[in-house]
Amino acid sequence: MCGIVGYVGSRDATPLLVNGLRRLEYRGYDSAGVAIQENGGLEIRRAEGKLDNLVRVIAERPLSGRSGIGHTRWATHGRPSEQNAHPHVDCGAVTAVIHNGIIENFHDLKAPLVEAGHRFSSETDTEVVVHLVEQELAQGRTLDEAALRVLPQLEGAAALAFISVKDPGKIVAARISNAGAVIVGYGEGESFIASDIPALLEHTRRMSFLDPGELAVVTATGVTFRRLEDGAPVEKAVQDIQWDLVSAAKSGYKHFMLKEIYEQPRVVSDTLIGRVERESGRVAFDDDLKLTDAQVKGLRRLTLLGCGTAGYAALAGKYLIERLARIPCDVEIPSEYRYREPVVVPDQLVVALTQSGETVDTLAAMQEAKRQGARLLSFVNVMGSQATRLSDDVIYLHAGPEISVASTKAYTAMLVDLYLFAIFLGQRRGTLGKEKAAKLLADAFHLPTLIDALLQEEPRIRALAYRYHQARDFLFLGRGMNYPTALEGAHKLKELSYSHAEGTAAGEMKHGINALIDESLPVVAIALQDSTYRKMRSNIQEVRARAGVVIALASDGDEEIEGQADEIVRVPDTNELLSPALAVLPLHLFAYHVADRRGNDVDQPRNLAKSVTVE
Ligand code: AGP
Repeated sequence: MCGIVGYVGSRDATPLLVNGLRRLEYRGYDSAGVAIQENGGLEIRRAEGKLDNLVRVIAERPLSGRSGIGHTRWATHGRPSEQNAHPHVDCGAVTAVIHNGIIENFHDLKAPLVEAGHRFSSETDTEVVVHLVEQELAQGRTLDEAALRVLPQLEGAAALAFISVKDPGKIVAARISNAGAVIVGYGEGESFIASDIPALLEHTRRMSFLDPGELAVVTATGVTFRRLEDGAPVEKAVQDIQWDLVSAAKSGYKHFMLKEIYEQPRVVSDTLIGRVERESGRVAFDDDLKLTDAQVKGLRRLTLLGCGTAGYAALAGKYLIERLARIPCDVEIPSEYRYREPVVVPDQLVVALTQSGETVDTLAAMQEAKRQGARLLSFVNVMGSQATRLSDDVIYLHAGPEISVASTKAYTAMLVDLYLFAIFLGQRRGTLGKEKAAKLLADAFHLPTLIDALLQEEPRIRALAYRYHQARDFLFLGRGMNYPTALEGAHKLKELSYSHAEGTAAGEMKHGINALIDESLPVVAIALQDSTYRKMRSNIQEVRARAGVVIALASDGDEEIEGQADEIVRVPDTNELLSPALAVLPLHLFAYHVADRRGNDVDQPRNLAKSVTVE
């Protein structure tokens, strides 16, 4: 969850590191710090809280040098404080480490170090590593040799980077497990490391990605890679990353979240482009989908995995695939799947949904499925991420960088990609006729226009959010295809506004949830004119009969609903299977404006981080 950056070259490292951290702040914002090699010594600046606090500290006590490492923290071991902020240094303050992840055996490693006289100055698990490296450097080893001896002793999850005045002009970076990406960027006479692509885009598009169990020795003139297990050299491909810097910037919007919501017409167009064969009208994925027609026909079961918002997309995927391709699907919470001894049957496809491709629960669940022989397909936004490496097949989301902690455009991209995937499966399995497929695809190509139209409703949704922003609890109701939308609407509101919100299948209300309803409870009911419309209308009546306040999402042109709800938000018409990609938009905007009205930090909600790389 933490962000790490590093630079070695001929420029002043401090502003480069601070800018890199600025682009990674969404990964954690409990504290930040930098370590710079300066005139044969090591200078450290750290501050509790957001990056701006570190910027102030640096302004008061400037530092400069040609190489350094920086960190933005999401606290796990040790409360957020300056003392626990990274980088951590050894007893002589000549070697520094930054770390993303958790070292589970740090107590065991620390005891002998304390006995040997090492002085610890933080409550973190991380500090133990730099003292272990200190011991190795004292034996005259280079920084990479020291790291190669220390890192195999660590249990748990870690991406780490070191610098040391004992081995200057070098950063040693390593990835121990799935948790925490390490990316190396290649410049002209300079090199970079970072835990995410946006931190490097300003400087280079040429990048390599460390696999778990690998170490990089990074100098201004080049980078070499070694295997942690035995130190053997590793050849790594250099990838050309297509994302541009503009898409990783706020571009005049107040928050990244709002910008990312407004990018959705473009995201949907990019998702559709090139994915329908002109002659045959069949969906085809040109990414890394190697599933043959015979394999598709032989599929017996699909298991869809995703955490949080990606999990709600997975649920929508189940509804789509079962409807169009008639394959039984389960949706699994990855952190449960991994530990509950799941059963994998022959010809089972496990489908992972993950924006970052680095969510450790999802990766672990994928590994468990793979261990049991399942074929793995992932829908991933971030190129080169670990999920793409674990998978047999990859469908890339064409959402571009998503910076806001709250996922919006990646969710929509997942929905549209799953819709295409369900059509793809249906076409190959013969469960979906040509005419119906053509109609479904025509609707998809019309979606960007409808999203554009819906975005025009933002002022009305903002007014609604301002009217209800003080409510303590909310209920979100949906059925069928828009049951996952109700879950996602509640999730976003909780995440951003810190209000309690519950999403449920409307049919479940009578089994307990009705007890919550009174005149203080706003109930958001997704009541589009689809196959569940009549049932939703009845549920709305039930809420009104108990004095609840109804905010209805209704189809354009639905006159029957007039007078049946306290508030009505209109959603343009499309087919039922595609409607979640539209219905979610007002809910995302509602959550955004409630949070903004409350004065919350929309892009960086408290206690959360973008890439969840701890269990
Ligand atoms: C979404 O708004 C959340 N921040 C969170 O639920 C997120 O979707 C989840 O952590 C999964 O992330 P991933 O898609 O990168 O795997």
